Amino acid sequence: MAGQFEARGHDPLVVNLDRPPESFDPAAFAFVVVAASVHFGDHSDVARSFVAEHLETLETTPSAFISVSGAAAEPDGEGHSTAVECRDTFLSEVAWSPDRRLCVGGSIRYPEYGLLKRLLMRYKMGQDGKPTDTSREYERTDWAALNEFSESIAAELARSD
Ligand SMILES: Cc1cc2nc3c(=O)[nH]c(=O)nc-3n(C[C@H](O)[C@H](O)[C@H](O)COP(=O)(O)O)c2cc1C
Repeated sequence: MAGQFEARGHDPLVVNLDRPPESFDPAAFAFVVVAASVHFGDHSDVARSFVAEHLETLETTPSAFISVSGAAAEPDGEGHSTAVECRDTFLSEVAWSPDRRLCVGGSIRYPEYGLLKRLLMRYKMGQDGKPTDTSREYERTDWAALNEFSESIAAELARSD
């Protein structure tokens, strides 16, 4: 996404919410995109804390929330509605109404997980009839949806320039 904004002449900053730079202030930006993945039915505590800490800025600055999950990668409607429900529950719990919201599938990176996480994921994936070979990654990210989402934000920024 950052590449798309750069290509349009913007100066994006990608911040890992686990380790935000000390001086980071989202109020300094024209648009704020928060992306968080779903683990065991919920988004991370760091995403929750970030939104709580910067809620006023997020409510007054154009903003977007991207919820990344396995459910969103499912081709059937049930996975999508589960993903939407999880995203919207999070947003209502943190009392944030971003201008844009997206649910997008994410990849499963078995080799990167520690033993417990890998075993839990293999069990969960097996239950759902999904790939369980823990020696490889399963790329399920919907890059086209992400590109389209970024393009619509870039177009909005171009209009407001
Ligand atoms: C430990 C773990 C638990 C997960 N639990 C869920 C879940 O409850 N629902 C879901 O839709 N996806 C679930 N996923 C899939 C992730 O949301 C998806 O793989 C995402 O891309 C992971 O992003 P990450 O790189 O931040 O871990 C889980 C993934 C992991 C590794």
